[in-house]
Amino acid sequence: MSAGGRESRRVLIVGATGRLGIAIAEALVGRGDEVVLTARNLKKLEHLAASLDRGSGPAKIVCADLTHREAVTQIVDGLRIAIPPTESRGSIDDIVLACGPFPRTVFEDLRREDLERTLTVHAIAPLLLVHALVDDLTKSKGAVVELGDAGTTRPYEHHVAYLTAKGAIRTGLCALAVELAPDVRVNIVELGIVADPDADPLRKHQLATRSQLGRFGTPEEVVHVALGLLDATWATGEIWGVGR
Ligand SMILES: NC(=O)c1ccc[n+]([C@@H]2O[C@H](COP(=O)([O-])OP(=O)(O)OC[C@H]3O[C@@H](n4cnc5c(N)ncnc54)[C@H](OP(=O)(O)O)[C@@H]3O)[C@@H](O)[C@H]2O)c1
Repeated sequence: MSAGGRESRRVLIVGATGRLGIAIAEALVGRGDEVVLTARNLKKLEHLAASLDRGSGPAKIVCADLTHREAVTQIVDGLRIAIPPTESRGSIDDIVLACGPFPRTVFEDLRREDLERTLTVHAIAPLLLVHALVDDLTKSKGAVVELGDAGTTRPYEHHVAYLTAKGAIRTGLCALAVELAPDVRVNIVELGIVADPDADPLRKHQLATRSQLGRFGTPEEVVHVALGLLDATWATGEIWGVGR
């Protein structure tokens, strides 16, 4: 039970060490949820896990590279060890998908490998992971929330591979929402650009003014919507656009 009297949830965060993954992990832990973190880089995972220690030890971690075929099995096996399931409750209740690189693929140089790799990280592995954890999610009336990209409906240049993969996961998750209803909810936050503190100011201004609100978002604003969708017990298959 969390401080506010709310039943605490166990949330798997995929891509936990990214800018938005960290912000979501901190917010979840802050409200009394337990997180399991997964990404590729062990050092970054360990560092984040330690920073999330609120007195009961570091957060649980599972290291896996989603481009590898065995990644889904590795994550599920790691989860089973980190939080052994019981008859009534699985290892996790909810999943946040915040993973993957943002590769620039100059159109003239686009290669089959770019498409295969990006599709694997952003779409194939996450969909198979949700599939592998359906029993856990079902037991806890769980939710899946993915951080999508507004470019799937308003594409921008030099990102054909990335946007194709984000479009694939968008459709795949909407299909999963149908497959998994009513026990498991699956929703998407479709983001504009979140401010990059290191970006060139002129380029930043040009990109920001393309969106109706005329500015980039902040990790805190993404957290607000992601947690809102985790909690939205009457929504599934929804795509909540922010900063588009
Ligand atoms: N930031 C934005 O403006 C924005 C806008 C629209 C959509 N989004 C979406 O929001 C999500 C999070 O974005 P972000 O800015 O937080 O990204 P980020 O800072 O680049 O972090 C990406 C995360 O994914 C992990 N990752 C990358 N490749 C991986 C692989 N092969 N296997 C396993 N994990 C891998 C990284 O871990 P390692 O470091 O260990 O590789 C890291 O934890 C992404 O899905 C992105 O498409 C972001």
